[in-house]
Amino acid sequence: MDTSRLSVTILLVLSTFIQPNAHGQSLEPEPFGRRTRALETSKTPHETKTRFLLFGETHRGCQIQIDRLDRLQECGFNSSLPLVMIIHGWSVNGILENWIWQLVAALKSQPAQPVNVGLVDWIALAQNHYTIAVRNTRLVGKEVAALLRWLEESVQFSRSHVHLIGYSLGAHVSGFAGSSMGGTRKIGRITGLDPAGPLFEGSSPGDRLSPDDADFVDAIHTFTREYMGLSVGIKQPLGHYDFYPNGGSFQPGCHFLELYRHIAQHGLNAITQTIKCSHERSVHLFIDSLLHAGTQSTAYLCRDMDSFSQGLCLSCKKGRCNTLGYHVRQEPQSKSKRLFLVTRAQSPFKVYHYNFKIQFINQREKPTETIFTMSLLGTKEKMQKIPITLDKGVASNKTYSFLITLEADIGELVMIKFWWESSAGWANVWDTVQTIIPWGPRPPDSGLLLKTIRVKAGETQQRMTFCPENTDDIQLRPTQEKRFVKCELKSKNSKQKIR
Ligand SMILES: *[C@@H]1O[C@H](CO)[C@@H](O)[C@H](O)[C@H]1NC(C)=O
Ligand SMILES: *[C@@H]1O[C@H](CO)[C@@H](O)[C@H](O)[C@H]1NC(C)=O
Repeated sequence: MDTSRLSVTILLVLSTFIQPNAHGQSLEPEPFGRRTRALETSKTPHETKTRFLLFGETHRGCQIQIDRLDRLQECGFNSSLPLVMIIHGWSVNGILENWIWQLVAALKSQPAQPVNVGLVDWIALAQNHYTIAVRNTRLVGKEVAALLRWLEESVQFSRSHVHLIGYSLGAHVSGFAGSSMGGTRKIGRITGLDPAGPLFEGSSPGDRLSPDDADFVDAIHTFTREYMGLSVGIKQPLGHYDFYPNGGSFQPGCHFLELYRHIAQHGLNAITQTIKCSHERSVHLFIDSLLHAGTQSTAYLCRDMDSFSQGLCLSCKKGRCNTLGYHVRQEPQSKSKRLFLVTRAQSPFKVYHYNFKIQFINQREKPTETIFTMSLLGTKEKMQKIPITLDKGVASNKTYSFLITLEADIGELVMIKFWWESSAGWANVWDTVQTIIPWGPRPPDSGLLLKTIRVKAGETQQRMTFCPENTDDIQLRPTQEKRFVKCELKSKNSKQKIR
């Protein structure tokens, strides 16, 4: 399929997602009061269209119903264990999506922390036009709340042991479930996985998932890129901790150019998969946190992705960082915290974040155009040739701060090899000079000095300063490697030499 036809298809699918319904309602988030009234006047059928399933011994769902204690027992509900309920989102085709079974399996794969795993199957109400599905979220939320209240009354199952995990529209269903519980106590936790944006962005806390809906609310935002003024995932924070992997707008490995890899995996569903890729990434990041206990991703409080990319936000002081996913540190606070992190394009998603601060001394007046690469040697592994491009070249005496992410754990950083790739101009001039007058004087120094490299590792919170290994020659020259070692170590060595 050529790209233009592909993009037309994509636009069509996307616009189905966000199209106004047949009654021509506008795309603007309308006042929710109107919708609520409409909902309340329509009669709620007694037998719900929502099905509640439990996954006991088998992975096949076992349906439970309010007022049916026998079913609860038959389905293997253990009231001394927490209850984790998955709530899916809007559906195009009325089929429960594959990630649901993956998440069920991941939740059940933890022998150390057994839980009851359930599913709120509201597919019958979710496969309508998006706008209608949105209206149904409040109704389904009330039904979930009714089930949880019944569990409380019938088997004394505390609402504080409930964790709702809602994807897309399901995140708001979770919110409505929480706010419809009644009483003074709240349910334990709600996790919103890329909570839906259209018709929710900018609405008041009572009309969407909000921190008031549970003792602890966390959300992972993965697809907030705008299209025609709307984004599939909501941008605004709506929990106690809101995670924005890779800035939250779009995810690595989800570019349309990856379509062919998706075709190999999903056949004809590839186009839908490609479109859903960033949205559904929130789910896979969460599943990853369950499956890879040893490689939990850390995210850091930051104003925005720009500051994060400069490496300015790798602090863990005073609750400024937290763990993404199931094992998040549950610290409710009054204000939403927006946390950022970088991830890999596939599982395991974890990367290791580093802030590098490089101070140049440029004795020349003009900025020097440069491409550098760095090789990092750690106690466990090394990373070769990481390119560094500095905007507008190296200006005089400036400190450059940037974020470097590594896909592997290199252990403690012990040496940095710094390599000036060349700057077209400089290297060429030198070559020419040397070729013409091979006996001529040594080419003049570049006038570019690099004295120290300061490094902060996000994951270990370790700070290090690196100095040139050879202090006699701190000039940088094109196509020449400079080695930097820990400064303390250096001074120790030189003392030994003196002795
Ligand atoms: C319920 O879970 C508890 C705690 O893990 C366990 O000791 C108990 O045997 C379980 N009960 C049933 C009926 O499986
Ligand atoms: C940069 O600093 C060095 C020494 O600290 C100084 O000699 C040089 O003039 C400075 N360059 C500029 C352009 O300020």
